[in-house]
Amino acid sequence: MAERFDLSTFREQVDAFREKIRAQLEHAQDLDTLQAIHVECFGRQKGFLKRQFREIGRLPTEQRATAGQLLNELKAWVTAAIERRRRELKETELSIRIEQERIDTSLPGAAFYQGAYHPVLLVRRKIEAIFHGMGYTIADGPEIETEYHNFTALNFPPEHPARDTQDTLYLHGTWLLRTHTSPVQIRLMKAHPPPIRAIIPGRVFRRDEPDASHSPVFHQVEGLVVDRDIQMSDLKGTIGLFLRHLFGPECRMRFRPSYFPFTEPSAEVDLSCLLCKGEGCSACGQTGWLEIMGAGMVHPNVLAEVGIDPEVYSGFAFGLGLERMAMLMYRIPDIRLFYRGDVRFLRQFESPLD
Ligand code: PHE
Repeated sequence: MAERFDLSTFREQVDAFREKIRAQLEHAQDLDTLQAIHVECFGRQKGFLKRQFREIGRLPTEQRATAGQLLNELKAWVTAAIERRRRELKETELSIRIEQERIDTSLPGAAFYQGAYHPVLLVRRKIEAIFHGMGYTIADGPEIETEYHNFTALNFPPEHPARDTQDTLYLHGTWLLRTHTSPVQIRLMKAHPPPIRAIIPGRVFRRDEPDASHSPVFHQVEGLVVDRDIQMSDLKGTIGLFLRHLFGPECRMRFRPSYFPFTEPSAEVDLSCLLCKGEGCSACGQTGWLEIMGAGMVHPNVLAEVGIDPEVYSGFAFGLGLERMAMLMYRIPDIRLFYRGDVRFLRQFESPLD
């Protein structure tokens, strides 16, 4: 005899299936499993709902409507339950991904080598800053010069032996590589009427054999002030202030008489030895003094040459070697170290770039 098939059996089957799916959904950990559950419910051939809709036909007619309702409820529940689980799984998947791909923005970035000023440039910057603070402008001029600007206009008469003190690299005709930054004095005074207060850093060239203290290419800083009533005391005051800024308040200086064709009077400026403080040591040849720059009052012939009336205006000028300054400040024994590009040497001068 065929097994009795009625609404209560049908309901039991539906309830059992719902509980089975509820448990499966709870355990499902990925979208593939969800898809399998979906097929188990809604599959065209073997899907539970498809099969049960067919079973309804075996029920007594008056029970079919209720059974249909039961199945529709199940269908709605399963659809919602799968969707809910799908959302949950997606959310966990997303939070896992967010966790895995998290970027710690509080971590410091990878440091990279920024480079640093070359010691000669470092000293040049310091000098520029000091004079900038005293109201000087910073000027420059060409490295290839005329004999006129480099010598003649600076009161070196033609054939005068003073030209020989600066071993010159001559180019074609009257062109040469400037032996000092002083020709820029001429260019500045011709371009601007007084008052003039300028410093002129730049590269200069001399026909010297390289050794520990000579290089055929080196750097100078020139200073030029032209105005009414400029006196030797202004020169001394300015140089003193500058040296104390650069080498500290204890340093002393002295002016020794000297000769330059373009200044009168002319002086050689000495700085008290930084190592022995003037006692005398091997660095200063036991004298206690280091020679650091040339200076003087602008020669009236130079003022007249550029069209400035020497009866009305006067001025002072000075010139110093940047490499020599850097050697003194950092105790560098050989000028050639500046040009070798050896990073073991250069890295010692690392300082934050401004
Ligand atoms: N130009 C001179 C030199 O190179 C230095 C100097 C400059 C001297 C200005 C006096 C005034 O030796």
